Amino acid sequence: MTDIAIIVLAAGKGTRMKSDLPKVLHRAAGRSLLGHVLHAARELEPREAVVVVGPDMEAVSREAQWVFPDARKAVQVERLGTGHAVSMARDALQDFSGTVLILYGDVPLVATESLRKLAGLVGAGMALLGFEAANPHGYGRLVQDASGHVVKIREELDASPAERAIRLCNSGIMAIDSALLWSLLPKLGNANAKGEYYLTDLVELAAAAGAACRLATCAEQEVAGVNDRIQLAAIESALQQTYRRRHMLNGATLVAPETVFFSADTVIGQDVVIEPNVVFGPGVEIGGGVEILAFSHIEGARVAVGARIGPYARLRPGADIGEEVHIGNFVEVKKAAIGKGAKANHLTYIGDARVGARTNVGAGTITCNYDGFEKHLTDIGENVFVGSNTAFVAPVSVGDGASIAAGSVITRNVPPDALAMTRAELELREGWAKRYRDMKAARKAERNK
Ligand code: UD1
Ligand code: MG
Repeated sequence: MTDIAIIVLAAGKGTRMKSDLPKVLHRAAGRSLLGHVLHAARELEPREAVVVVGPDMEAVSREAQWVFPDARKAVQVERLGTGHAVSMARDALQDFSGTVLILYGDVPLVATESLRKLAGLVGAGMALLGFEAANPHGYGRLVQDASGHVVKIREELDASPAERAIRLCNSGIMAIDSALLWSLLPKLGNANAKGEYYLTDLVELAAAAGAACRLATCAEQEVAGVNDRIQLAAIESALQQTYRRRHMLNGATLVAPETVFFSADTVIGQDVVIEPNVVFGPGVEIGGGVEILAFSHIEGARVAVGARIGPYARLRPGADIGEEVHIGNFVEVKKAAIGKGAKANHLTYIGDARVGARTNVGAGTITCNYDGFEKHLTDIGENVFVGSNTAFVAPVSVGDGASIAAGSVITRNVPPDALAMTRAELELREGWAKRYRDMKAARKAERNK
C-alpha cells in the first residue's frame, strides 16, 4: 500500500466561536475537534502528520502530539487561503513520498472508512470527498465530466448561476499524490472573489497536467464543520447518538439512552446497566456486569466487574473501583483504589487513599487528604469497619481488621485488629430537658399576660 501523510488545516481563528481557545481545541464528547479528526486518520497508519496552525497556537500542536507523538506543526502566519495553508506543510514533508491526505481540523465527524476510500482512489492523481448538500450555500461546487471525474471546483462567490445550482459539494477533504501536490501548489493564483490561494484550484491544474481527480462521496452530516457553538452542540449530539447505539449494540442496557453522555474513549463491558442521567468524562473503563445507577458522574476511573455505582455517585480521576464494590449515594472517590467487595454506601469522600477488600466505610466518612499545601495518603487495610462520621487526617494508616468508632478523628496509625476511638465523654442529666422547657414556657406566659 502507498504510504500516507496527513495535513490538518487548523490555522483558522474561529472568530464565531467567540473564544480565547483556538476553535479546533473545543471539545465534543470529551475529545477536541482536532482529536476526533486525528483519531479517524490514525486508523490509516499515516507515516507523517502535520498540523497547520496560526501564530501563537502552540497548544494546537501539543494536542496533536497526544495522538501522533511525532506530529509536526507548520505555522501559517498570514491566512492567505487553503492552498497557501497546505504549502506551509511542504518543508515538514520534504522527505515523504506517497499520498497526502488533507483534512480540516474543524470537521470532526469524518469516518475512517471514507478516508480509506478516498486514499484508495488517488493513484497518480488526486481524489476528493464530496457530498450532496441539502443547501449548498457557501460550499465549493463540484463540476464533473461524463466519466464522473471532477474537472473543477467552483467556489460559491466565483460561481455562475448554473454552477450554483449544482448540489454536489466539496467537503474540503482531499487526497493527492505528493509529487503532484508539490508540483502544482506553486501554480495556484489568487485572482478570485476572495483574493485567496484556493486549494480547490488544484483540480483544474491537475486536469491540465493530465491527472484525473476521482470522487468519493459521503453523507453530508459526516463532513459537517464547526464554526460556532450551535454547530459544536450539533456535533456533540451526533456523537452521543453514535456512542449510545454502539454501547447498546455491544451489550449495555441504557434505560434512557438520550440522557446518558459518553466520551469518545469510554469503554463499557457487556451486561452493564446504565440508569438515566449518567455522564462519562474522558478515560473511563467499566467492567462487565457493572450497574451504574441514576445521576452518577464518572471521569478518569476504572470500575471492575460486578461493582455497583450510585445513584448520585462521583468517580473522579484515579478512582480504581474493585470487583463487586458498592459506591453509593453522594460518595466521591478520587485517586483511590477500593478493594474487592468493599462498601462506601453513603455521603463519603475518599481521596488519595487505598481501601482494602471487604472494608466497610460508614456514612459521612471523610479522608482529610489536604493540609492546605499538600495531598496525603490514607491507607486502610482489609476487613476494616469504619464507623460513621469518621475523619481520617492523612497521612494515616489503618491495619487489617481494625474497627473505628463512629465520630472518630483519626490522627495516628491504627494497628491491625485494634479499636480506635476519639470521643468526648457523654454527659447525661436526668430530667434536664423537661425542667428547661417548663421554665421557658412559664416565662413566656408571664410576659404575654
Ligand atoms: C472551503 C473550500 C470549499 C469547501 C468548504 C467546505 C477552498 C477554497 N474552499 O471553503 O470548496 O466546500 O471549505 O467547508 O478551499 N484554513 C487555514 N488557512 C487558511 C484558510 C483556511 O488553515 O488560510 C483552514 C480553516 O481553518 C478551515 C479550512 O481551512 O479549517 C477551510 O477554510 P474556510 O475558510 O472555512 O474555507 P471555505 O471558504 O469554507
Ligand atoms: Mg468554511
